[in-house]
Amino acid sequence: MKPAAAPVPTDPAGLAAWSAVAGRLTGSTMGDVLRWGAGDAINFAGGFPDERLFPVEAVRTATDTVLTRHGNKVLQYGSAAGEPWVREAVTEHLLRRGVTTDAGSILLTSGGQQAIDLVTRLYVDPGDTVVTTSPTYFAALELFEAAGARVSTVRLDERGIDPEELDRALRQPRAKLLYLVTDHQNPMGVNIPSGQRPLIAEMLRRHACHLIEDDVFADIRFVRPAAPIQPFAPERVSYVTSFSKALSPGMRAGVLVAPKDVLQKAASLRENVDVCPNTLTQSVVGELLGSGVFHRLLPPLCAAYLERRDAMLDALTRHLEGRAHWTEASGGFFTWVTLGTPTDPERLLQSAVREGVVFLSGSRFRRGGGAELPELRLTFARLEPREIEEGIGRLGQCVKALMEKDDGARVAEAPVRGRK
Ligand SMILES: Cc1ncc(COP(=O)(O)O)c(C=O)c1O
Repeated sequence: MKPAAAPVPTDPAGLAAWSAVAGRLTGSTMGDVLRWGAGDAINFAGGFPDERLFPVEAVRTATDTVLTRHGNKVLQYGSAAGEPWVREAVTEHLLRRGVTTDAGSILLTSGGQQAIDLVTRLYVDPGDTVVTTSPTYFAALELFEAAGARVSTVRLDERGIDPEELDRALRQPRAKLLYLVTDHQNPMGVNIPSGQRPLIAEMLRRHACHLIEDDVFADIRFVRPAAPIQPFAPERVSYVTSFSKALSPGMRAGVLVAPKDVLQKAASLRENVDVCPNTLTQSVVGELLGSGVFHRLLPPLCAAYLERRDAMLDALTRHLEGRAHWTEASGGFFTWVTLGTPTDPERLLQSAVREGVVFLSGSRFRRGGGAELPELRLTFARLEPREIEEGIGRLGQCVKALMEKDDGARVAEAPVRGRK
């Protein structure tokens, strides 16, 4: 006898079974950025390093060295925190930056993003509040929201934050976690001023709050930054950094420095997620740090990005002077542009896309009410100076056309209002 055919499901697959987290996942800005990065538009949108600047030969040599020196071991599973000799090399690197750490306080992660995720999951239950700046890094915002957090923001500008506003935000009953990008911030390119850092550390203690200090752009700097917040309150800070920007995001080499109890729990959590850091790429990073090659790569790399930052500032002056103002990045990859009149940034994006230019609208980086004037995050990292000049030239034309159209519409409306 033939077995009975399996019943055909009448329910659409999965719909009845989604968890609350899955229900909250509705696409991500990172997905858009990756898709746009694939086209041939002049791309001011993605915060990627330029692959033309990747140290391919140095990575090849270091890979060879670790395979020769450590043999099969670098292809095996490793410890959840990362190999001790790599953590030693990372410790030396971070001590130079002013971070308080030792190899026992470090967990190597799959990029800075995983470190942010692990710490968020250790502190945040649905309904808890995460305090951050407005604007801030979109993928952190989306991660907090996916965890069910309420996001509460304090203003950030070239002068940093308003300490009193932050104090009020941290006083909220379920404000457990603060998230800050201290240096060369994504998206504004600005820093939390050195004078505000000890004040923030003191507030963490007073409000029993934990800080995720995101410092993934630390190595790409045009001026010497102040010491991080972490040394002012190491017991209350999870310091996150990464080799994505100065070495390679494809290697997924991130670092979490945290108090011992946080680190132990983060290691247990990561064992359930991806078991251990990538043994091969963390060894390559360890070798590049230990041999001094990594630090020798930094000055020419920073000089290349500085040239692009300057090309961006010059192009903005040439094509948008009088119509917008912008930040001057102290490091990292971004310039934040605020237009002078209330034009719809989505309309601007549509006309820019028609001209072969993409950028990210500032609203992606804000929560709890947007800005009054339209804002754009422009990345200068992945473009040569002549591409930046060409792209900003086209963008400038789009802004001009849109503003003239809006002005025209306002003039046309004026007599109607006058007759009322
Ligand atoms: C502020 C900030 N934090 C974290 C990350 C994540 O970087 P990683 O590639 O190390 O995961 C990024 C990436 O763009 C970022 O801009």
